[in-house]
Amino acid sequence: MTAVSAGLVRSDVRDRVAVITIDNPPVNALGAGVPEAISESVERACDDPSADAIVLIGAGTTFIAGADINVFRQLKTREQSLERSQAVHTRLKKLEDASKPLVAAIHGHALGGGLEFAMACHYRVAVASANVGQPEVHLGIIPGAGGTQRLPRLCGPSLALEMCTDGKPVGACRAHEAGIVDAIVDGDLLAGALTFAKARAAAGERRRTRDLQDRIADRESGVAACRAIRATLARTARGARAPFAAVDAIEACLTMDFDAGSRREIELFADCVLSIESKAMRHLFFAEREASRIPDVPKDTPARPITRAAVVGAGTMGGGIAMAYANAGIPVLLKDVDQQALDRGLAVIRRNYESTVSKGRMTPEAMNRTLARITPTTSYEGFADVDIVVEAVFENMDLKKGTFAEIGAVTPSDAILASNTSTLDIDEIAAASGRPAQVIGHHFFSPANVMKLLEIVRGRDTRPEVIASSLKLAKQLGKIGVVVGNCFGFVANRMLAYYMREAYLLLEEGASVSQIDTALTGFGYPVGPFGMQDIAGIDVGWRIRQHLKSAGKTRAEGPQSVVPDRLYEMGRYGQKTGAGWYRYESGSRTRIPDPLVDAVAAEEAANRGVTRRTIPDEEIIARIMTALANEGARVLEEGFAIRAGDIDVVYVNGFGYPRHRGGPMFYADSVGLPEVLARVKEYRQQFGDYWQPAPLLEKLASEGGTFHGDAA
Ligand code: 3HC
Ligand code: NAI
Repeated sequence: MTAVSAGLVRSDVRDRVAVITIDNPPVNALGAGVPEAISESVERACDDPSADAIVLIGAGTTFIAGADINVFRQLKTREQSLERSQAVHTRLKKLEDASKPLVAAIHGHALGGGLEFAMACHYRVAVASANVGQPEVHLGIIPGAGGTQRLPRLCGPSLALEMCTDGKPVGACRAHEAGIVDAIVDGDLLAGALTFAKARAAAGERRRTRDLQDRIADRESGVAACRAIRATLARTARGARAPFAAVDAIEACLTMDFDAGSRREIELFADCVLSIESKAMRHLFFAEREASRIPDVPKDTPARPITRAAVVGAGTMGGGIAMAYANAGIPVLLKDVDQQALDRGLAVIRRNYESTVSKGRMTPEAMNRTLARITPTTSYEGFADVDIVVEAVFENMDLKKGTFAEIGAVTPSDAILASNTSTLDIDEIAAASGRPAQVIGHHFFSPANVMKLLEIVRGRDTRPEVIASSLKLAKQLGKIGVVVGNCFGFVANRMLAYYMREAYLLLEEGASVSQIDTALTGFGYPVGPFGMQDIAGIDVGWRIRQHLKSAGKTRAEGPQSVVPDRLYEMGRYGQKTGAGWYRYESGSRTRIPDPLVDAVAAEEAANRGVTRRTIPDEEIIARIMTALANEGARVLEEGFAIRAGDIDVVYVNGFGYPRHRGGPMFYADSVGLPEVLARVKEYRQQFGDYWQPAPLLEKLASEGGTFHGDAA
């Protein structure tokens, strides 16, 4: 065996096959030096008479997770990007020209540049558990190392379009069926790859992906597939640019030769990588990972393993939370007051799973297995054995305190006691449990089994171990945990009050419900504020307002529109009653604008002495986004969020804030804080003193700073 070592990449020869191992933990990203070392190792192997073939493999748990995302930050000009991409393309063509069969051996992930390197190899073998993908759209870019040119040549345009526009990886077996992977290896990957490589060498076979034409021969249907996906993206990609650029690049693969198509890819990549969209999405990639770093909770803080859970309250949220646990393989007790409430909750859960099965996203067997993890109960039996209880009873302080007193008495002393309250004081709830150090807020978002955010609310006495366990649990549940402080509405709902305040006021001032919603969907939201309330229930907000009124509080300073209360009084709760901000035909969710709502808004405008006017869409976006950023700045300086990125992560994952805008704080940075501050001051003059600039906004704007430092 010959051993050649080169730091991030090492080579040795086994049984006449050169094995090149990439060793750049944690995910073998193609950081500085890695691509160069791979190329050099391949060249050396080609010159080495003791090797007949070459295998490229990753050390650790994965093949290659892609380019090092940090590198894109260094690209400041289009020329820099074009030059860099051209060099990468040249490198991969050279790899593809290797004089000995070159086989990529894939385990874990081959993503982005990782798959592009693999496709520049002559063959690919993988273990069944591996996956391959082009997730670049999630970073606001397109595959930039030939992916849009080689992938369609392997699997045809349809799957290539799907993979490059939705960014979801596909499993190795599907990739094998589609032609991306040549063989699935059972057992040891390296052994299988060596056998495969030796067979290719013995047969004198080498196959350059760029020479393949069969899968792209039917240009007409390929171009039609591009047209069709553009039409779909116009509805689903809402303002994002990268998915369209990916389609353009794939179309170039179908209509041009390899080199011309590659040049087109390089140009499109340059446009994308310098865009705000890409900066925003790269910011979120790192912000979502940074959110789990809590300054006073070190990484090595012990986390309690969660193997058994209980949820109290089987309503909308409790049911969804129980599903989230069951989906993660954690057995969960689900308690409600009586059998009738339980039956109602379980029927909803079952219906949700059945709908997933009917869409082909779950097998009936998996549904039964998952359902079997949820044990309904009307008593506290079994609570002595759980690691965590999540309370999701009605939003009422006395009820929550009573519930915490009970669960404090029936659970192990080190169990985590979590409340899903949206607004109530965690410390007051914690005191009632008798074990405040074990109490924490686990604020899920509706539907709890779907939405990615878990707002983790630390109380005054919450132990670091409980916070660390909550963060680990969030990952286990497939969620992104963000730790926030205990203020009214925490981060998400506290800021939402300002978003809604502006939406209501704009309505009174003359914008229509559908104009406001359409402006926000045009901005990138999946649904506007009124459509969202029709889903969540206008009665829910009404209850919160009643609770606030009785406490003599308001959620957001400024005029309090009574239009939502009037709808509530008319029994218009939203989709569930067939009418809310919109009208709904029976059994349909199509939003039909209702002139009655505009009439109510006009009446209330008159009552408040507001002169109605035509409001441009730009003002709708500017008012709502400025209100969010200004309150976000307060949340930040008061210490209820650890960093601006956490607020962005909360908004993107909890409320569908468009990822390509980076979140409300990132968006403010991209508008420019002096401009945001100027708007606040202008609104103060125009609408009243309830518009007050947050001191942090004033400070950063005057210093030329940003909420995110150099990330924006
Ligand atoms: N570049 C830089 N850092 C990366 C990275 C990458 N491509 N992929 C992961 N990391 C880092 C993460 O930031 C994290 O760092 P931290 O521990 O300091 O926070 C660490 O690696 C581990 O990542 P995760 O916490 O995400 O680990 P998981 O095991 O949960 O997930 C993964 C692994 C599925 C590989 C996930 O990290 C991932 O999806 N990575 C990004 C993949 C990607 O988007 N690749 C395409 C890059 S763009 C490209 O290749 C362009 C090309 O076309 C030219
Ligand atoms: P819900 O009304 O749908 O369900 C509440 C359930 O709790 C009912 O099934 C009720 O029978 C049960 N319950 C009441 N008292 C109980 C007791 N003593 N023991 C056991 N069960 C009891 O309410 P929803 O919407 O699920 O809200 C629950 C909590 O989640 C509230 O604190 C709410 O603020 C919060 N929340 C709600 C969100 C939403 O979108 N609905 C979003 C995030 C949090």
